[in-house]
Amino acid sequence: MKDVYLLAIESSCDETSMAIVKNGRTIESFTVLTQMDTHANFGGVVPEIASRMHTENITMVFEETLKKSNIKMEDVDAIAVTYAPGLLGSLLVGVEFAKTLCLVYKKPLIAVNHTIGHIYANAIEHTLEFPLLALVVSGGHTDLILMKKDYDFEILGSTLDDAVGECYDKVARVLGLKYPGGPNVDKLAMDGNDTYPLPKPVNDQSYNFSFSGLKSYIINLVHNETQRGNEIRKNDLAKSFQVTVVDELIRKVELALQHNDVKELIIAGGVSANRHLREEIKKVADKYQVHLSIPKIEYCTDNAAMIGAAAYPLYKQKKFADFTLNASSSGSIVQKKDN
Ligand code: KG4
Ligand code: ZN
Repeated sequence: MKDVYLLAIESSCDETSMAIVKNGRTIESFTVLTQMDTHANFGGVVPEIASRMHTENITMVFEETLKKSNIKMEDVDAIAVTYAPGLLGSLLVGVEFAKTLCLVYKKPLIAVNHTIGHIYANAIEHTLEFPLLALVVSGGHTDLILMKKDYDFEILGSTLDDAVGECYDKVARVLGLKYPGGPNVDKLAMDGNDTYPLPKPVNDQSYNFSFSGLKSYIINLVHNETQRGNEIRKNDLAKSFQVTVVDELIRKVELALQHNDVKELIIAGGVSANRHLREEIKKVADKYQVHLSIPKIEYCTDNAAMIGAAAYPLYKQKKFADFTLNASSSGSIVQKKDN
């Protein structure tokens, strides 16, 4: 069979990224231009600045991605782009650029959901084994998803309030750490001990999560102790927070593994870069004897390689978008099922 080359574009938040992906799994060329240092000055992503920087950088990222590969635009079979969810202005830059390339080079357009992209980061250099259980943990998502085949998503549970990455970022801020908070909390926790007693998030038997209570508890604790002139042991608090969050994620993964017969367990999204989560999820996979897939660190956070991997099943099914495709800030992958 002829090899399929997809040019993939990702611009949903503060990374301008492009990749050329062969047959949905081999990365021929990959570029990520992050705006992180600019947004760090403001303590978080500023949407207007993000979209302006995507506009300034996208042509350069495109040229660089082509230059690094042996592929010419004539060899590309289709152009895939993240259209939702994310920051509207940022998404629009990618979507309009993709449409323009399709028009100029006469290529089909493939619309990819960003969250699905994170899941398919596990399909890079690896064949997904169905049925599988996916734990999606990012700045906007905390979902437990059952997949029986490609593009078949049953959401077993989700967060009832804050996403886990959002919670990491807020805790980082109150601890005075720079944006992006998650990796910095993770680093701080390495030298800490789990000595702060923290409330357990939703201690029930559902597959849902809740992290806002834990987040508020930590914010109040830091403010109260600071007002009293007491010192916060930042490493210990980071460690106690990390242990509490990961315990809860793991507890729900275990519950899902007990009630669903799966061959593979995968984790996806920015928080899947977390060291403690990566260690603990290995233990669970061993205990339940399921194959574990964890994306390489560079494919955990936002990137276009995962968008190319997620676009491949759509290409095979000839599910192409037309030029009415619009960006959307929200976009669930499916309707939630009751459990
Ligand atoms: O998937 P992602 O890059 O963007 C979204 O689609 O949301 O995830 C970003 C989130 C941020 O909240 C960031 O703080 C968190 O992932 N994150 C981490 C780590 N690396 C990134 N959280 C905990 N530990 C990490 N090592
Ligand atoms: Zn993401």
